[in-house]
Amino acid sequence: MWSTTDIAMMSRAIMLARRGRYTTRPNPNVGCVIIDSHGAIVGEGWHQRAGGPHAEVHAWRMAGDKARGATAYVTLEPCSHYGRTPPCAKGLIEHGLQRVVIAMTDPNPQVAGRGIFMLQDAGIEVVSGLMADEARQLNPGFLSRMERGRPYVTLKLAASLDGKTALANGESKWITGPAARQDVQRLRALNCAVITGIETVLADDPSMNVRYQELGYLQQQLGEDELIQPLRVVLDSACRMPLNARLLQLSGAVLLVSCQPYPAEFCEALPAHVQCVQLPGIDGRVDLAALLQYLGKSCNSVLVEAGATLSGAFVSCGLADQLILYQAPKILGAAGRNLLQLPPYQQLSQIPALQLIEQRKVGVDNRLTLKIGY
Ligand SMILES: NC(=O)c1ccc[n+]([C@@H]2O[C@H](COP(=O)([O-])OP(=O)(O)OC[C@H]3O[C@@H](n4cnc5c(N)ncnc54)[C@H](OP(=O)(O)O)[C@@H]3O)[C@@H](O)[C@H]2O)c1
Repeated sequence: MWSTTDIAMMSRAIMLARRGRYTTRPNPNVGCVIIDSHGAIVGEGWHQRAGGPHAEVHAWRMAGDKARGATAYVTLEPCSHYGRTPPCAKGLIEHGLQRVVIAMTDPNPQVAGRGIFMLQDAGIEVVSGLMADEARQLNPGFLSRMERGRPYVTLKLAASLDGKTALANGESKWITGPAARQDVQRLRALNCAVITGIETVLADDPSMNVRYQELGYLQQQLGEDELIQPLRVVLDSACRMPLNARLLQLSGAVLLVSCQPYPAEFCEALPAHVQCVQLPGIDGRVDLAALLQYLGKSCNSVLVEAGATLSGAFVSCGLADQLILYQAPKILGAAGRNLLQLPPYQQLSQIPALQLIEQRKVGVDNRLTLKIGY
């Protein structure tokens, strides 16, 4: 069904879409390539930032008159609604495209097949489903928010070979090397929010922001003004957050989540970039499903950078989608602190199902990406 040209052009559109992965949120990453009847690329582009032109607009602007009678390859169904920009399906019709090849339909309820219908209604040949799996991988966060109403959740943990995250006395700086820590900076930059538990704040006083100077090779692709700081979220059921915590002092949005109201004098002393929200609790601790539903209004993806307690809670509730584990070539011994606090399973059939997706060396450490399935 698909020609080699179809596959080559959609692969290119997917490659282009990936260029927007640090800057388009909360919008999806989308790429578009337009070819003429001889198979030559006459236009291409990708969605660069929310509020800016969509991928199709960049492509047809580049193609100009050559868009007439041409074929467009788009990684996501063209939109059919007026948002901050007019509908791309309408634009493709007006620019005289003859055929549109789409990798996947857009689950956004404002689109959901209407873009395809608009194109077909105007007599354009539309085919859908080319490299759909690869296109889905471009947008795990956006798709999670649209399909499940909650962000895609990645746990990040750093551990020794024997799975320990710190010595018994809490000393953990640094288990992993500088390259892994730089990689974590890029992970933070990819996510809409970074979530931690109050115990990590009390123990480490982290800043949890993205430091542009520590992004390494990404600095060549991403200008400092393009960097979007993730929302920093602290789960603090019983309102133990100290006012002098470092992450409250640094600029960039912070959300404190508790199960009871913070005292009025605490709220009055907070800087303007810090907000508090009270969510329901389960056994006195923030209900993680309620938290994700709350964050799902605006966040595509979240990174959990917490200790064994909160990271383990995300896994035991079935709310963690992926684990990125930096494994250092060190052995801390049996007295060290554990990776995840999980229920005392009685059978191996009860343990979380993990699937190794990717494994690579980052500096002196090993980085494992594991899908968590239930
Ligand atoms: N190696 C790594 O990758 C890494 C990463 C981060 C931290 N750490 C280390 O981890 C240590 C702290 O770990 P930790 O396990 O004690 O603390 P943690 O997981 O960072 O935070 C746990 C706290 O989060 C709060 N919380 C709110 N809602 C929760 C929920 N639904 N489920 C679980 N917790 C919830 C609880 O306090 P309240 O009930 O008071 O809200 C809980 O005590 C530090 O020493 C830090 O250095 C290591």
